[in-house]
Amino acid sequence: MILPVITYPNKNLRKKSEELSVEKIASPEVQSFITDLIETMLKEDGLGLAAVQVDKHWRIFAVATEDGPMVFINPKISFKSWFKEMDEEGCLSIPGVFGTVKRPKAVIIKSLDRNGEKVSMKATGLFARVIQHEFDHVNGDLFIDKIQTVTRGQEILDEMKAK
Ligand code: NI
Repeated sequence: MILPVITYPNKNLRKKSEELSVEKIASPEVQSFITDLIETMLKEDGLGLAAVQVDKHWRIFAVATEDGPMVFINPKISFKSWFKEMDEEGCLSIPGVFGTVKRPKAVIIKSLDRNGEKVSMKATGLFARVIQHEFDHVNGDLFIDKIQTVTRGQEILDEMKAK
């Protein structure tokens, strides 16, 4: 089922999401939500989508990778490289706005997969960027807070901020 994506300045995007127990992750409610979250991300052509963006305040996000969609539950970033990179980002919850954001080039993320199993992985480049962008969503942070230069959609952003 495709879920409606909420957009800025909807205040729910600023809510901090809550951790899920392994029992809760195994529930049909959460399992079907994860399926819907992935389906919605793919349909909307997003590189990633956090639960908060469909107004569900669980610490879950999905990322589209070359090997297929991946799900991160109760994520923690345990390492950030000293070396940072600047690149352009956008967000399904802030349509039409793009800007450059400086982020660590590599991270190690520890989380649970949809089976409740612990997963730890190193990410670099675009994958690391998407993970950090989605991790911010889980904490109620948005990329526009970190933007250095708005590359597209300044007038859209000004209009949204005025709401
Ligand atoms: Ni986003």
